[in-house]
Amino acid sequence: MDKQTARKKIEKLREELEKHNYRYYVLSDPAISDFEYDLMMNDLIELEKRFPEFYSEYSPSQRVGDDTNREFNQVEHRFPMLSLGNTYSLEELKEFDSRIRKTIGENFEYICELKFDGTAIGLRYLNGILTHAVTRGDGIRGDDVTANVRTIRSIPMVLRGSEYPVDFEIRGEIFFPGEDFRKLNQERQESGESLFANPRNAAAGTLKMQNSSMVAKRPLDCYLYVLLGEKLPYPNHYDNLKKAIDWGFKISPHMEKCRDLDEVFHFINSWEKERKSLSFNIDGVVVKINSLQQQKQLGSTAKSPRWAISYKYKAEQAETQLLSIEYQVGRTGSITPVANLRPVYLAGTMVKRASLHNEDQIKLMDLHVNDMVYVEKGGEIIPKIVGVNKKERDPSNPPVEFISECPECKTPLVRFEGEANHYCPNEKGCPPQIKGRIEHFISRRAMDIDGLGEETIDLLFREGYLTDASDLYTLKKPQLVPLERLGEKSADRILSSIKNSKTIPFHRVLYALGIRYVGETVARTLAKNYTSIGDLMKADHSELVEINEIGERIAESLILYFSDPANKEMIDRLKNEGVQFQVDPSELVKRSDRLSGLTFVISGTFVQHSRDELKSMIEHHGGRNAGSVSGKTSFLLAGENTGPAKLQKARKLNIPIIDEKDFLAMLT
Ligand code: IVH
Repeated sequence: MDKQTARKKIEKLREELEKHNYRYYVLSDPAISDFEYDLMMNDLIELEKRFPEFYSEYSPSQRVGDDTNREFNQVEHRFPMLSLGNTYSLEELKEFDSRIRKTIGENFEYICELKFDGTAIGLRYLNGILTHAVTRGDGIRGDDVTANVRTIRSIPMVLRGSEYPVDFEIRGEIFFPGEDFRKLNQERQESGESLFANPRNAAAGTLKMQNSSMVAKRPLDCYLYVLLGEKLPYPNHYDNLKKAIDWGFKISPHMEKCRDLDEVFHFINSWEKERKSLSFNIDGVVVKINSLQQQKQLGSTAKSPRWAISYKYKAEQAETQLLSIEYQVGRTGSITPVANLRPVYLAGTMVKRASLHNEDQIKLMDLHVNDMVYVEKGGEIIPKIVGVNKKERDPSNPPVEFISECPECKTPLVRFEGEANHYCPNEKGCPPQIKGRIEHFISRRAMDIDGLGEETIDLLFREGYLTDASDLYTLKKPQLVPLERLGEKSADRILSSIKNSKTIPFHRVLYALGIRYVGETVARTLAKNYTSIGDLMKADHSELVEINEIGERIAESLILYFSDPANKEMIDRLKNEGVQFQVDPSELVKRSDRLSGLTFVISGTFVQHSRDELKSMIEHHGGRNAGSVSGKTSFLLAGENTGPAKLQKARKLNIPIIDEKDFLAMLT
């Protein structure tokens, strides 16, 4: 294929794919199957690989994110990102309405919108291209999360049509749809990771992830709700938002013009019931003045505009009786109190249990035995007790006393300074801790051992076949087959899965060990700095805290873990069984920190290496890749046909321009 044909084909595919993205993610009206979409995407990726000169960071293929770890740059908002005044009653709304009338008279319109329960984002478009996506931060400056936001399919990277302002900002709410949130938490539970408390936290947490390819895997979505800029098409909020639909933005269809408070009340009341039918959470309604001129006249306080207000729905609550409290022991020995309740109907489900968090919470609520309690279910999956109806209390009922011994092994509990949780310190002898560690070890994101559920682990533990994770590797078929509900087939599957886990890379093995505070990210960082477990075990406290991202708490936890002879013995046994306790040597060859602290911008085409190869070489040697030339760029790595704008900017900022040969020389 010649260059011209390739370019045309690439452009056509990009256009088609964006069109289908838009239909799927914005209009919810797909025109082709997922399979056909994937085929087109594969064609595009293939062509872009063969013809890297046509690379574009705005290509739909880039929506899969990249593996670069990034710390976010802080960006100042062009318009402060204010929040909204809250109201909880129709009375308070009436007061808002009279304040409005005092300033602008009687002649105005309200726009009522849903109040999406997610995390706020400001998107800047220059000449129709998404250039910055910034979180609220402190309202004045926020984090530049553009790379992560580019992975959100319902946010256009390039606008449709041509009638948009040259430079404007649009703000909205990034959220996690309810059903997807439940799935995410379920997966996290299965792999022993901590759960997100609600979809809002899941959205905010995802947006701040360091690795945009991980973000791309999460189904974030976004509704936009306000436009800012000098040259907006209409003098009112409503028409501007409607116009933004033509540019490709996802604007909620549930937006209504209201002439007076009665119509506003009607909107609020009808959505209070209807909101259950939405696929995402809302926590209220936002009421705005439509005319931009009148908005200006009303102005803002330091915290919020005077031309808009939110009405918050009360979280649904129910009252019921506390029957008993159970104390669960996690794999780290942490104790979680869970209340058993007289079953009560709340927001569509029967609630029988609720979380009580910790001793301080129980004391704060002054919870007594058999109290009548209020339960709430916000966006959360686990309902929580939020208060006590003291009027209903039988005065002879004593306050709830937190346990002092482990409910499973009777060891006296401890509470570390600065922590709210109690712990059972009997790591080696407390059954739920032992089983929990094994469950974590085999979980999907750790060693990914299939076919062993909680019940089978429990059976194997009770039979005495499993005392720690290393025993998995000595399990024999005759031990497994007779177990309840297992058989030949399942036993074979388990054994082959255990065997396969020996190829799991070092950083996941480190995570699988379940060392306190060593989650997936920390494990990756450790494996980048220490290529074998032996090296890591030798590291002392001061050396560990030198590493970016490793703080005191993690360092102490690592030292404590490796100072325990039983842990060392288990690691030795695992090593002897062939589990990976060092970084794959083929990975090592390419590594150094020669380029650490340096940021490269690559542009043009090269003779010896593809652009992707150069990018990963930069990363493997500790450097960073960036998409555009700025004051932070260390080198512009320029090949043939380097973009003139990039060259010009680099010259202007006195940034050294190097070619492929210079670059390769830097590595030797
Ligand atoms: S307008 C200056 N409209 O709620 C006015 N905000 O509690 C800017 N929110 O900061 C906000 N849905 O993050 C607006 N339809 C909507 C909204 C909305 C959700 C969020 C937003 C805001 C927060 C205030």
